[in-house]
Amino acid sequence: MKSLTTALCALLGQSTIVLGQGYTNESEVPLYGLSPPSTHLGSGGSSARWTDAYARAQAIVAQATLEEKLNLTRGFAGQCVGNTGSIARLGVPALCFSDAPDGIRGNEFVSAFPAGIHVAATWDRDLMYDYGRALGDEYRGKGINVALGPVAGPLGRVVRGGRNWEGLSNDPYLAGAGMGNVVRGMQDAGVMANPKHWLLNEQEWRRNPGSLGESLSSNVDDRTLHELYVFPFMDGLKEGAVSVMCSYQRVNNSYGCQNSKMLNGILKTELGFEGFVLSDWGAQHSGVASANAGLDIVMPDAGYWGQNLTNAVNNGSVSTERATDMATRILAAWYYTKQDNGSFPSPGVYSNLQKHEPIDVQANHGALIREIGAAGTVLVKNVNNALPLKKPTFVYVVGYDAQVPASPWQNPSRYGGGYEVNFGWETLKGTLVTGGGSGSSAPAYVVSPFDAIRDRVVKDRGILRWDFESINPTPYVNADACLVFINAYASESFDRTSLTDEFSDRLVKNTAANCTNTIVVIHSTGIRTVDAWIDHPNVTAVLYAGLPGQESGHSIVDVLWGDVAPSGKLPFTIAKQESDYGHLLNGTVTFDAFPQQDFTEGLYIDYRAFDRDGDEPLYAFGHGLSYTTFEYKDLAVMSEEKTDTRPIPDPAVPVVQGGHPALWDVVAHVTCTVSNTGGVAAAEVAQLYVGIPSNDEFVTPVRQLRGFEKVRVEPGKMSTVTFPLTRRDLSVWDVKAQQWRLQAGSYKIAVGASSRDIKLEGSLEIAA
Ligand code: BGC
Repeated sequence: MKSLTTALCALLGQSTIVLGQGYTNESEVPLYGLSPPSTHLGSGGSSARWTDAYARAQAIVAQATLEEKLNLTRGFAGQCVGNTGSIARLGVPALCFSDAPDGIRGNEFVSAFPAGIHVAATWDRDLMYDYGRALGDEYRGKGINVALGPVAGPLGRVVRGGRNWEGLSNDPYLAGAGMGNVVRGMQDAGVMANPKHWLLNEQEWRRNPGSLGESLSSNVDDRTLHELYVFPFMDGLKEGAVSVMCSYQRVNNSYGCQNSKMLNGILKTELGFEGFVLSDWGAQHSGVASANAGLDIVMPDAGYWGQNLTNAVNNGSVSTERATDMATRILAAWYYTKQDNGSFPSPGVYSNLQKHEPIDVQANHGALIREIGAAGTVLVKNVNNALPLKKPTFVYVVGYDAQVPASPWQNPSRYGGGYEVNFGWETLKGTLVTGGGSGSSAPAYVVSPFDAIRDRVVKDRGILRWDFESINPTPYVNADACLVFINAYASESFDRTSLTDEFSDRLVKNTAANCTNTIVVIHSTGIRTVDAWIDHPNVTAVLYAGLPGQESGHSIVDVLWGDVAPSGKLPFTIAKQESDYGHLLNGTVTFDAFPQQDFTEGLYIDYRAFDRDGDEPLYAFGHGLSYTTFEYKDLAVMSEEKTDTRPIPDPAVPVVQGGHPALWDVVAHVTCTVSNTGGVAAAEVAQLYVGIPSNDEFVTPVRQLRGFEKVRVEPGKMSTVTFPLTRRDLSVWDVKAQQWRLQAGSYKIAVGASSRDIKLEGSLEIAA
């Protein structure tokens, strides 16, 4: 009976709220809490802009035949990685979809921007917006309607997850700030943003079904789902994201693109999503079920739809309203982003094998890329004022990551194949500017660290020596500094097998053995542990330089020589050793036919876990040094009147896209001052951590990031920082009430320079 219900459930796209164990037989999988399929038709009620977009979309859809409507809901082969059909008769063009979140993939005369994780490391909302805007301008310039990003799924639960670098940090608040600003920037440029992957695609191993059986099922409880994984997407929705990509793997045992609870339930009903849900490529596993569960477009081909969907509507398995809703949502997104106004270019997306006129969309984005590259570089260690470098100087540059690879065509058979230039494939081959897979970009050029260092040394009349190959570089006793460049690669399709590699660790140790001022630069797709050499007395400085994009060398030189004081902060925790991450180090590797991945840790990933266990990280979440010093003072906490602790103050008010409007009410403010007490102008990221009152019903993490502001302060000057706190920021997800809820009691307020470097403490009282 159980088996029958489970099979039925999968067929209908229902989700089971279940913590499974690892099963070989479907009948063993327990079934709790069904979420029946429900259709949620878009209404356009979220804002005047949506209402107008819906009115226009409805006017066109009313004239379309069923076949014409459904022609918009499926993929066709074409110029772009995804192409819908058109309704030429009614002036509706085919839409073009393209990767990647950090720059247009597989194209020419486009820019390779820093990856998502690098943008997160800037902790700079303005740069996040500028990034989205510049990306959007490039997409629009190429006539690409939908940019497939930004990413907040994976969030980064699994430390070695292959795609964490595409996302915007494993903290939902920081990732949400990134999501919101990047979406707004992209859509201000007139391109449709596509936050992805909704939801819980937290590892690559068995993300898809295959010869071993079904895909992995990410099993999560309702509260964790909301407070961690849904949270950053809410910001993207609030900023008007017109599309969302559903994910490959199963969520609580039902496939992400046919999971009615996830699509119709949370996304479209609870969060009021007005736009369209797009399947990940090949992520559709049923026809009627996915349509009824809320999927609106299947990619890259007709999948289980096409003529089958027409038949399903004709025989009543899928309602006509639902078919109309799909087409309306797609066209409303098109109108919302004003792509109908005639000035939107036709797609100009070509492979390098086609002869064509160049369409140059780079503008002066190199300058922004350089700025973000430097702003997201994190200085974690700096003893004896090793940095900034003095001039003139004798610099010895070592390591494979300092130069561009001998040939960027290193592995044509790698995921995606073809044109993508992949700097740093499998480590050791060249400098790493992005990760691999569909999230990789196509740099117009790459300024390597060595190129930029050479230009700087020439300018300063210094001395330069280098060794890109040897694991044991020849010592230069007169070198003022030895700069070692190493990296850590990751890609879609694979999870990482280690956070380190033997070659790079030995290279650092061998260099340090002969050089008293060894400075290590790590280009990395995420967390890279450094226990093999961090305590070596000759390792004087360490920089996490992320995935900086095509201006890599310029960005790192700006920081090394102090033209820009470092201001990046870690968007994750660096543990003393890999094993400190416990069960979150690796994804779930199982050969079961119905593999289960239970999120048993609940809310406790990254710093939340370290804080719960009282474990000391090597470098805390939010850590990052500067070339100056800052003093924090004058903490003030002010609550507004809107602190009603009932689930939601006025449930009669309709939900708008992003959730109930009251969630975004500012219910308190925290302010403080930050003074620059050192000698150089620099930016500081003041961080606000909140301890939500914990009780028997709602046990809460010790502290959670709920505010940050980056301020540039001149030496001897002071800046006031304000952190607005919304109802959502201070709430827990109340599973029984199915609403966000403020807690009565004393909230701990902590402002600091990292999650473990708290400078000011106070409290916020919220009455019952
Ligand atoms: C990835 C998506 C990507 C799509 C199209 C999929 O394999 O998961 O993130 O947008 O391919 O390239």
